[in-house]
Amino acid sequence: SASIDQAIAALREGEPVLVHDAADREGETDLIYPAGAVDPGAVARMRNDAGGLICVALSDGVAEAFDLPFSQDLIDHPTAADHELGYDERSSFSLTVNHRDTYTGITDEDRALTITELAAAAGAPEEFDFAGNFRSPGHVHLLRAAPNLLADREGHTELGLALAAAADLPPAVVVCEMLDDGTGRALSPADAREYAAEHDLVYVEGRDVVEQLG
Ligand code: 5RP
Ligand code: CA
Ligand code: ZN
Ligand code: ZN
Repeated sequence: SASIDQAIAALREGEPVLVHDAADREGETDLIYPAGAVDPGAVARMRNDAGGLICVALSDGVAEAFDLPFSQDLIDHPTAADHELGYDERSSFSLTVNHRDTYTGITDEDRALTITELAAAAGAPEEFDFAGNFRSPGHVHLLRAAPNLLADREGHTELGLALAAAADLPPAVVVCEMLDDGTGRALSPADAREYAAEHDLVYVEGRDVVEQLG
């Protein structure tokens, strides 16, 4: 796989990178963008080429400043009593949001606005009026990272934010799973590498990110 330095350089340029977590975890490759670099074309690429859920991962510090809970702690329903994830202790899901200037919130333009405004807010979270600027529920899933990133958890949430931190970017990245249109399953690492090569993007393995940045 490409070097972590190449992934950091790509993110700094506003380019997406592909990150495979681990065969013994989700076994998924996420297309990951710095949130501040997402435009409507990037949202279109995520839904057409990746096909997974479009989420914005925020650092624990930013989530704390905006009072963003874990979804599991918020849902007062027996479905949320036990996560029972096969691959991790807990999911990083928080609220879903739309920026208040969106209409339905789902269009490429609306989601790009929500995402770039989240990036701006994450860059200067002090005194930011989160509820004044965003509404819930919405069409962009927020993910709340573990406090010490890779020391605590090795999900795409933390892998993406560790790379963004190394690139000196605000702690807000967009992650979206690459799915296989033929099988409906996670895109295989081999096919994800091929997609990266075809589109001149950097592909890295989670274990290399953990080794170098963890
Ligand atoms: C939300 C998810 C994805 O797997 C995403 O990569 C974030 O989760 P994690 O940090 O657990 O990898 O489930 O679509
Ligand atoms: Ca597709
Ligand atoms: Zn993931
Ligand atoms: Zn997933």
